[in-house]
Amino acid sequence: MEQKTIFSGIQPSGIITLGNYLGAMKQFVELQDEFNCFFCIVDQHAITVPQEPEKLRQNIRTLAAMYLAVGLDPNKVTLFIQSEVPAHIQLGWMMMCTSYVGELERMTQYKDKARDRGETIPGGLLVYPPLMAADILLYGTHMVPVGEDQKQHLELTRDLAERFNKRYGEVFVIPEVRIPKQGARVMSLVDPTKKMSKSDPNPGSFIAMLDDLKTVEKKIKRAQTDSDGIIRYDRENKPGVSNLMGILSACTGQTYEEIEQLYEGKGYGQFKGDVAKAVIETLAPIQERYNQLINSDELDQILDEGARKAQEAAAVMMEKVNKAIGFSRK
Ligand code: TYM
Repeated sequence: MEQKTIFSGIQPSGIITLGNYLGAMKQFVELQDEFNCFFCIVDQHAITVPQEPEKLRQNIRTLAAMYLAVGLDPNKVTLFIQSEVPAHIQLGWMMMCTSYVGELERMTQYKDKARDRGETIPGGLLVYPPLMAADILLYGTHMVPVGEDQKQHLELTRDLAERFNKRYGEVFVIPEVRIPKQGARVMSLVDPTKKMSKSDPNPGSFIAMLDDLKTVEKKIKRAQTDSDGIIRYDRENKPGVSNLMGILSACTGQTYEEIEQLYEGKGYGQFKGDVAKAVIETLAPIQERYNQLINSDELDQILDEGARKAQEAAAVMMEKVNKAIGFSRK
Protein backbone atom coordinates (compact mmCIF):
# COMPACT_ATOMS: atom_id res chain seq x y z
CA MET A 1 0.00 0.00 0.00
CA GLU A 2 1.23 3.48 -0.83
CA GLN A 3 2.42 5.59 2.08
CA LYS A 4 0.10 8.49 2.92
CA THR A 5 1.41 12.06 2.79
CA ILE A 6 1.47 14.65 5.57
CA PHE A 7 2.10 18.37 5.12
CA SER A 8 2.29 21.14 7.68
CA GLY A 9 3.89 24.58 8.00
CA ILE A 10 4.89 27.12 10.60
CA GLN A 11 5.53 30.83 10.06
CA PRO A 12 9.03 32.10 10.80
CA SER A 13 7.72 35.21 12.47
CA GLY A 14 9.92 35.40 15.53
CA ILE A 15 9.19 33.58 18.72
CA ILE A 16 8.19 29.90 18.61
CA THR A 17 5.82 29.18 21.49
CA LEU A 18 4.86 26.20 23.59
CA GLY A 19 1.52 26.46 21.74
CA ASN A 20 3.28 25.83 18.41
CA TYR A 21 5.04 22.85 19.94
CA LEU A 22 2.11 21.19 21.72
CA GLY A 23 -0.42 22.02 18.99
CA ALA A 24 1.71 21.21 15.96
CA MET A 25 5.36 20.14 16.22
CA LYS A 26 4.82 17.38 18.77
CA GLN A 27 2.38 15.73 16.37
CA PHE A 28 4.90 16.01 13.53
CA VAL A 29 7.41 13.96 15.50
CA GLU A 30 4.81 11.30 16.28
CA LEU A 31 3.85 10.99 12.60
CA GLN A 32 7.27 10.91 10.95
CA ASP A 33 7.76 7.12 11.11
CA GLU A 34 4.48 6.23 9.52
CA PHE A 35 3.96 8.85 6.81
CA ASN A 36 5.67 10.57 3.92
CA CYS A 37 6.13 13.95 5.62
CA PHE A 38 6.73 17.46 4.28
CA PHE A 39 7.36 20.16 6.88
CA CYS A 40 7.72 23.70 5.72
CA ILE A 41 9.03 27.02 6.96
CA VAL A 42 6.33 29.18 5.40
CA ASP A 43 8.26 32.40 4.85
CA GLN A 44 5.96 33.59 2.05
CA HIS A 45 3.17 33.64 4.63
CA ALA A 46 5.29 35.66 7.02
CA ILE A 47 5.53 38.59 4.58
CA THR A 48 1.77 39.17 4.62
CA VAL A 49 2.82 41.72 7.23
CA PRO A 50 6.05 43.75 6.80
CA GLN A 51 9.24 41.98 7.95
CA GLU A 52 12.73 43.27 8.55
CA PRO A 53 14.99 41.32 6.12
CA GLU A 54 17.83 40.47 8.50
CA LYS A 55 15.38 39.46 11.24
CA LEU A 56 13.43 37.29 8.81
CA ARG A 57 16.64 35.55 7.73
CA GLN A 58 17.42 34.76 11.37
CA ASN A 59 13.87 33.64 12.13
CA ILE A 60 13.92 31.21 9.22
CA ARG A 61 17.12 29.67 10.52
CA THR A 62 15.83 29.52 14.09
CA LEU A 63 12.67 27.73 13.00
CA ALA A 64 14.63 25.25 10.85
CA ALA A 65 16.85 24.39 13.83
CA MET A 66 13.79 24.11 16.08
CA TYR A 67 12.07 21.65 13.71
CA LEU A 68 15.09 19.39 14.10
CA ALA A 69 15.60 20.06 17.81
CA VAL A 70 12.09 18.81 18.67
CA GLY A 71 13.03 15.47 17.13
CA LEU A 72 12.32 15.49 13.40
CA ASP A 73 14.75 13.23 11.57
CA PRO A 74 15.90 14.68 8.22
CA ASN A 75 16.37 11.14 6.92
CA LYS A 76 12.67 10.53 7.39
CA VAL A 77 11.06 13.89 6.59
CA THR A 78 11.45 16.60 3.96
CA LEU A 79 12.18 19.87 5.74
CA PHE A 80 12.27 22.92 3.51
CA ILE A 81 11.76 26.66 3.06
CA GLN A 82 8.64 27.67 1.13
CA SER A 83 10.27 30.46 -0.91
CA GLU A 84 12.83 27.96 -2.24
CA VAL A 85 10.04 26.04 -3.97
CA PRO A 86 8.39 28.59 -6.32
CA ALA A 87 5.59 26.17 -7.22
CA HIS A 88 3.86 27.21 -3.98
CA ILE A 89 3.26 30.67 -5.41
CA GLN A 90 2.30 29.32 -8.84
CA LEU A 91 -0.34 27.03 -7.40
CA GLY A 92 -1.22 29.73 -4.87
CA TRP A 93 -2.30 31.99 -7.71
CA MET A 94 -4.50 29.24 -9.14
CA MET A 95 -6.08 28.74 -5.71
CA MET A 96 -6.71 32.48 -5.41
CA CYS A 97 -8.49 32.30 -8.75
CA THR A 98 -10.53 29.38 -7.42
CA SER A 99 -11.60 31.23 -4.27
CA TYR A 100 -14.34 33.83 -3.69
CA VAL A 101 -13.70 37.14 -1.93
CA GLY A 102 -16.77 36.53 0.24
CA GLU A 103 -15.46 33.29 1.70
CA LEU A 104 -12.00 34.83 2.27
CA GLU A 105 -13.53 37.78 4.10
CA ARG A 106 -15.32 35.36 6.39
CA MET A 107 -12.08 33.79 7.72
CA THR A 108 -11.84 34.56 11.46
CA GLN A 109 -8.07 35.05 11.38
CA TYR A 110 -8.45 37.54 8.55
CA LYS A 111 -11.13 39.41 10.44
CA ASP A 112 -8.95 39.53 13.58
CA LYS A 113 -5.86 40.69 11.73
CA ALA A 114 -7.67 43.20 9.48
CA ARG A 115 -9.55 44.84 12.32
CA ASP A 116 -8.51 48.46 12.96
CA ARG A 117 -6.34 48.62 9.83
CA GLY A 118 -8.83 50.70 7.84
CA GLU A 119 -7.48 51.45 4.35
CA THR A 120 -4.16 49.71 4.96
CA ILE A 121 -5.11 46.03 5.15
CA PRO A 122 -2.37 44.23 3.17
CA GLY A 123 -3.90 42.29 0.26
CA GLY A 124 -1.80 39.31 1.29
CA LEU A 125 -3.79 38.92 4.50
CA LEU A 126 -6.93 38.26 2.48
CA VAL A 127 -5.38 35.79 0.03
CA TYR A 128 -3.29 34.00 2.64
CA PRO A 129 -5.68 31.00 2.95
CA PRO A 130 -5.58 30.11 -0.78
CA LEU A 131 -1.77 30.11 -0.56
CA MET A 132 -2.04 27.81 2.43
CA ALA A 133 -4.36 25.58 0.39
CA ALA A 134 -1.72 25.49 -2.36
CA ASP A 135 0.99 24.48 0.15
CA ILE A 136 -1.09 21.49 1.14
CA LEU A 137 -2.52 20.43 -2.23
CA LEU A 138 0.85 20.63 -4.01
CA TYR A 139 2.02 17.41 -2.37
CA GLY A 140 -1.14 15.31 -2.71
CA THR A 141 -1.45 15.62 1.06
CA HIS A 142 -3.81 13.24 2.88
CA MET A 143 -3.52 14.71 6.36
CA VAL A 144 -2.55 18.07 7.89
CA PRO A 145 -1.53 18.15 11.57
CA VAL A 146 -2.26 21.60 13.04
CA GLY A 147 -3.58 23.33 16.14
CA GLU A 148 -7.27 24.15 16.40
CA ASP A 149 -6.90 27.73 15.14
CA GLN A 150 -6.12 26.43 11.63
CA LYS A 151 -9.26 24.32 11.33
CA GLN A 152 -11.21 26.92 9.36
CA HIS A 153 -8.35 27.31 6.86
CA LEU A 154 -8.36 23.55 6.40
CA GLU A 155 -12.08 23.57 5.68
CA LEU A 156 -11.49 26.22 3.02
CA THR A 157 -8.65 24.12 1.57
CA ARG A 158 -11.02 21.19 1.18
CA ASP A 159 -13.65 23.42 -0.45
CA LEU A 160 -11.13 24.85 -2.92
CA ALA A 161 -9.78 21.41 -3.79
CA GLU A 162 -13.29 20.10 -4.41
CA ARG A 163 -14.21 23.16 -6.49
CA PHE A 164 -11.06 22.79 -8.60
CA ASN A 165 -11.61 19.06 -9.08
CA LYS A 166 -15.18 19.66 -10.18
CA ARG A 167 -14.06 22.22 -12.74
CA TYR A 168 -10.95 20.51 -14.09
CA GLY A 169 -11.10 16.82 -13.17
CA GLU A 170 -9.77 14.81 -10.22
CA VAL A 171 -6.42 16.50 -9.68
CA PHE A 172 -6.20 17.01 -5.91
CA VAL A 173 -6.45 14.71 -2.92
CA ILE A 174 -8.98 16.12 -0.41
CA PRO A 175 -6.93 16.47 2.80
CA GLU A 176 -8.08 15.67 6.35
CA VAL A 177 -7.21 17.84 9.34
CA ARG A 178 -5.50 16.30 12.39
CA ILE A 179 -5.92 18.16 15.67
CA PRO A 180 -4.13 16.71 18.73
CA LYS A 181 -6.17 15.41 21.69
CA GLN A 182 -4.15 17.51 24.14
CA GLY A 183 -2.56 20.87 23.40
CA ALA A 184 -4.76 21.79 20.41
CA ARG A 185 -5.39 25.24 21.86
CA VAL A 186 -2.91 26.38 24.47
CA MET A 187 -4.19 29.57 26.07
CA SER A 188 -2.48 32.74 27.30
CA LEU A 189 -1.09 32.47 30.83
CA VAL A 190 -2.27 36.00 31.59
CA ASP A 191 -5.73 35.83 30.03
CA PRO A 192 -6.71 32.16 29.63
CA THR A 193 -9.74 33.07 27.50
CA LYS A 194 -7.31 34.10 24.70
CA LYS A 195 -5.03 31.86 22.60
CA MET A 196 -1.34 31.77 23.57
CA SER A 197 0.23 33.88 20.84
CA LYS A 198 3.73 35.06 20.00
CA SER A 199 2.33 38.42 18.96
CA ASP A 200 0.94 39.13 22.44
CA PRO A 201 2.73 42.27 23.70
CA ASN A 202 2.96 40.80 27.22
CA PRO A 203 5.76 38.16 27.23
CA GLY A 204 4.35 36.77 30.49
CA SER A 205 1.40 35.47 28.48
CA PHE A 206 3.38 32.94 26.45
CA ILE A 207 6.17 30.45 26.94
CA ALA A 208 8.76 30.63 24.19
CA MET A 209 10.55 27.41 23.28
CA LEU A 210 13.83 29.24 23.88
CA ASP A 211 12.84 30.96 27.14
CA ASP A 212 15.38 30.62 29.89
CA LEU A 213 14.15 27.77 32.14
CA LYS A 214 14.00 29.96 35.24
CA THR A 215 11.76 32.36 33.31
CA VAL A 216 9.53 29.44 32.32
CA GLU A 217 9.08 28.55 35.98
CA LYS A 218 8.28 32.15 36.89
CA LYS A 219 5.73 32.54 34.09
CA ILE A 220 3.89 29.36 35.07
CA LYS A 221 3.89 30.21 38.76
CA ARG A 222 2.37 33.60 37.91
CA ALA A 223 -0.23 32.15 35.54
CA GLN A 224 -3.75 33.29 36.17
CA THR A 225 -5.98 30.76 37.96
CA ASP A 226 -8.94 31.44 40.26
CA SER A 227 -9.66 31.59 43.95
CA ASP A 228 -11.42 28.30 44.72
CA GLY A 229 -8.23 26.23 45.01
CA ILE A 230 -9.66 23.13 43.29
CA ILE A 231 -7.85 21.39 40.46
CA ARG A 232 -10.67 20.42 38.14
CA TYR A 233 -11.00 20.53 34.34
CA ASP A 234 -13.70 23.01 33.39
CA ARG A 235 -12.79 25.24 30.42
CA GLU A 236 -15.74 27.53 30.90
CA ASN A 237 -15.62 28.25 34.62
CA LYS A 238 -11.97 27.51 35.38
CA PRO A 239 -10.09 28.48 32.19
CA GLY A 240 -6.74 29.13 33.90
CA VAL A 241 -6.58 25.83 35.80
CA SER A 242 -7.90 23.95 32.75
CA ASN A 243 -5.23 25.48 30.55
CA LEU A 244 -2.46 24.42 32.94
CA MET A 245 -4.01 20.94 33.13
CA GLY A 246 -3.97 20.82 29.34
CA ILE A 247 -0.29 21.75 29.27
CA LEU A 248 0.54 19.19 31.96
CA SER A 249 -1.43 16.50 30.19
CA ALA A 250 0.22 17.24 26.83
CA CYS A 251 3.70 17.16 28.41
CA THR A 252 3.31 14.05 30.59
CA GLY A 253 0.56 12.01 28.94
CA GLN A 254 -1.51 12.00 32.16
CA THR A 255 -5.27 12.22 31.64
CA TYR A 256 -7.42 14.93 33.23
CA GLU A 257 -8.97 12.35 35.58
CA GLU A 258 -5.52 11.24 36.71
CA ILE A 259 -4.47 14.83 37.32
CA GLU A 260 -7.66 15.62 39.25
CA GLN A 261 -7.14 12.57 41.48
CA LEU A 262 -3.47 13.28 42.00
CA TYR A 263 -4.09 16.86 43.16
CA GLU A 264 -7.22 16.29 45.19
CA GLY A 265 -6.97 18.35 48.37
CA LYS A 266 -3.70 19.93 47.23
CA GLY A 267 -3.33 23.61 46.43
CA TYR A 268 -2.33 25.53 43.32
CA GLY A 269 1.22 26.04 44.62
CA GLN A 270 2.23 22.39 44.27
CA PHE A 271 0.21 21.98 41.08
CA LYS A 272 1.87 24.93 39.36
CA GLY A 273 5.27 23.73 40.55
CA ASP A 274 4.64 20.37 38.89
CA VAL A 275 3.37 21.96 35.66
CA ALA A 276 6.54 24.08 35.57
CA LYS A 277 8.66 20.97 36.15
CA ALA A 278 6.94 19.07 33.34
CA VAL A 279 7.38 21.96 30.89
CA ILE A 280 11.03 22.39 31.86
CA GLU A 281 11.69 18.67 31.41
CA THR A 282 10.12 18.93 27.95
CA LEU A 283 12.06 22.04 26.92
CA ALA A 284 15.52 21.32 28.37
CA PRO A 285 16.59 18.60 25.89
CA ILE A 286 15.05 20.53 22.97
CA GLN A 287 17.02 23.67 23.88
CA GLU A 288 20.19 21.63 24.19
CA ARG A 289 19.80 20.16 20.70
CA TYR A 290 18.82 23.56 19.34
CA ASN A 291 22.04 25.13 20.60
CA GLN A 292 24.09 22.42 18.90
CA LEU A 293 22.27 22.87 15.60
CA ILE A 294 21.81 26.58 15.17
CA ASN A 295 25.30 27.35 13.92
CA SER A 296 26.03 24.07 12.17
CA ASP A 297 26.62 23.62 8.43
CA GLU A 298 24.51 20.51 8.70
CA LEU A 299 21.43 22.72 8.88
CA ASP A 300 22.14 24.22 5.44
CA GLN A 301 22.74 20.82 3.92
CA ILE A 302 19.44 19.54 5.30
CA LEU A 303 17.55 22.56 3.91
CA ASP A 304 19.25 22.22 0.49
CA GLU A 305 18.30 18.57 0.29
CA GLY A 306 14.77 19.38 1.53
CA ALA A 307 14.28 22.04 -1.16
CA ARG A 308 15.46 19.59 -3.83
CA LYS A 309 13.07 16.86 -2.72
CA ALA A 310 10.13 19.27 -2.35
CA GLN A 311 10.78 20.79 -5.81
CA GLU A 312 10.78 17.31 -7.31
CA ALA A 313 7.47 16.35 -5.70
CA ALA A 314 5.91 19.74 -6.53
CA ALA A 315 6.90 19.48 -10.20
CA VAL A 316 4.88 16.29 -10.58
CA MET A 317 1.72 18.02 -9.29
CA MET A 318 2.35 21.21 -11.28
CA GLU A 319 2.50 19.21 -14.49
CA LYS A 320 -0.87 17.68 -13.71
CA VAL A 321 -2.40 21.03 -12.73
CA ASN A 322 -1.02 22.87 -15.76
CA LYS A 323 -2.41 20.22 -18.05
CA ALA A 324 -5.82 20.27 -16.35
CA ILE A 325 -6.09 24.06 -16.57
CA GLY A 326 -4.90 24.31 -20.17
CA PHE A 327 -1.44 25.77 -19.59
CA SER A 328 0.38 23.01 -21.43
CA ARG A 329 0.75 23.17 -25.20
CA LYS A 330 0.19 19.43 -25.65
P1 TYM B 1 1.32 29.47 12.78
O1 TYM B 1 2.71 29.74 12.34
O2 TYM B 1 0.52 30.58 13.39
O3 TYM B 1 1.32 28.29 13.83
C1 TYM B 1 2.00 27.07 13.57
C2 TYM B 1 1.24 25.90 14.19
O4 TYM B 1 1.11 26.08 15.60
C3 TYM B 1 -0.25 25.95 15.99
N1 TYM B 1 -0.51 26.85 17.13
C4 TYM B 1 -1.08 26.48 18.28
N2 TYM B 1 -1.53 25.29 18.71
C5 TYM B 1 -2.04 25.23 19.95
N3 TYM B 1 -2.14 26.30 20.78
C6 TYM B 1 -1.71 27.52 20.40
N4 TYM B 1 -1.80 28.55 21.22
C7 TYM B 1 -1.15 27.65 19.09
N5 TYM B 1 -0.62 28.69 18.39
C8 TYM B 1 -0.24 28.19 17.20
C9 TYM B 1 -1.04 26.33 14.76
O5 TYM B 1 -2.34 25.80 14.79
C10 TYM B 1 -0.19 25.75 13.65
O6 TYM B 1 -0.48 24.40 13.46
N6 TYM B 1 -1.31 29.35 8.53
C11 TYM B 1 -0.39 28.62 9.37
C12 TYM B 1 0.88 28.19 8.66
C13 TYM B 1 0.67 27.43 7.40
C14 TYM B 1 0.25 26.08 7.28
C15 TYM B 1 0.26 25.80 5.89
C16 TYM B 1 -0.13 25.11 8.21
C17 TYM B 1 0.90 27.90 6.13
N7 TYM B 1 0.64 26.91 5.22
C18 TYM B 1 -0.14 24.54 5.40
C19 TYM B 1 -0.51 23.85 7.71
C20 TYM B 1 -0.51 23.57 6.35
C21 TYM B 1 0.01 29.50 10.55
O7 TYM B 1 0.00 30.70 10.48
O8 TYM B 1 0.49 28.79 11.61
